[in-house]
Amino acid sequence: MPLYLDKNENPFQTPEEIRDAVLEKISGLLFNRYPDPEYPLLKRQLADIAGLSDESVVTGNGGDEILWMVFSRFVRPGDPVLTFSPTFSEYYRLSRLAEARHITFPVNLEGDDPLFPVQDFIKAIEKEKPALVLLDTPNNPTGKSLPASFIEEVIARSESLVVIDEAYGEFADTTFLAGLRGKRVPDNVVILKTLSKAWGMAGVRFGWAYCGTRAAAALEETRSPFNVGIFSEAAAGVVLAHPEFPAFSAERVRRLREAVHQGVNTIEGWKAFGSDGNFLLLRVPFSEGEVRSAADGYFCFKFLDLTPETRDRRCWIRLTIGTEDEMAEVLRFFSSLEKNPDRFGS
Ligand SMILES: Cc1ncc(COP(=O)(O)O)c(C=O)c1O
Repeated sequence: MPLYLDKNENPFQTPEEIRDAVLEKISGLLFNRYPDPEYPLLKRQLADIAGLSDESVVTGNGGDEILWMVFSRFVRPGDPVLTFSPTFSEYYRLSRLAEARHITFPVNLEGDDPLFPVQDFIKAIEKEKPALVLLDTPNNPTGKSLPASFIEEVIARSESLVVIDEAYGEFADTTFLAGLRGKRVPDNVVILKTLSKAWGMAGVRFGWAYCGTRAAAALEETRSPFNVGIFSEAAAGVVLAHPEFPAFSAERVRRLREAVHQGVNTIEGWKAFGSDGNFLLLRVPFSEGEVRSAADGYFCFKFLDLTPETRDRRCWIRLTIGTEDEMAEVLRFFSSLEKNPDRFGS
C-alpha cells in the first residue's frame, strides 16, 4: 500500500468511540427525508466553537463548495481576483473557470524563509479594486501564516469580498479567527474552515464559513438548499462535540512537523521551510523524475513546479506530516537518495 503524503490529510484515525457514535446516529436517520435546509443544530455548534453568532455560519460540502459559492456569487468574467502565488490549487482552477483576471503575487522562495510581497499586495488592492481577495493562512503550500496586521489592512482597504482560508488554522499558534471570538466578522469577510484536516474527516466532505452579515446573506442565497447530506450532517454533528480529537491530532502533528523540519534540514542540499500547517514545503536537490523513480510508487508526494527554470536539477515537494513511523521512513528515504549537492541553487 502506498504512503499517501500528498493531500494534507490527517494521518490519525478518528477514535473508535466517535466512529461508533457516528454510525449509531446514522442508523437512526430517516433516509427518505431531506435534511433541514437551515442546518440549525450544526450552525449552533459551529458558532459556539468560534464564539460567533449562528447567523454568521454558512455550511458547505467541504470548504471547496464554499469557495465555489464565493466565485459563483462574486466573480464575473474579467473581474480581478487577487492571491499570492503559490497558493491553494483550487484558487487557480476556480479563477480559470470563472474567466476571472487572476492577479498573483509571487512569494520569494529562494531564501531561508518564504517572503510574501505584502506591500505590493496592499497597493494592488487600491489599484485593481478586486472583486475577490483570497488569503490562505497558513498558506498552502508554504505553511506560512499571514500576520493579523496585514489581514486587517487587506480587509480595511477592500471594497469587495475577502476570503480568509483557515483550513489549517488548528495547526498554527494563532489565527485570525481566534481574535474574533465574541466579536463580529467584518461585513465583507468570509473565514473558511473544514473538517478535512485537524478534525480528520476529509472523506465526510464538510466545511463551513464564518461570514460578515453581507457575505452571509449573499452566500446563503447562492447555496443549494440541501447541500450537506444527512450522513455528513450526522457525522459532523457528532465529531464537533469532540474538540479533544482535533486538539490531540494537531498537537501530535505539530511535534512531528518540527522533528521532520529539523531532520530534512540536516540532509545536505535539502531545505524545509518552517510551517504552521500539517505539511512542509521542501526544496529538493533532485528533479521530480529522479525522486519519483526512487520513490517507486510507494511514497506519494505533492510535487510543485514552482521554479520551472531549474526543474531539470531540483524540485519542490509539499510533504504531508504522517504518523511517527511514516515520517521515520520518509526521512530515511530522503537521506538515502544519492547526494549531489552541487546541482543545487546555482
Ligand atoms: C487552503 C485550503 N483551503 C481549503 C481546502 C478545502 O478543503 P475541503 O474541501 O476538504 O474542506 C483545502 C484542501 O486541501 C486547502 O488546502
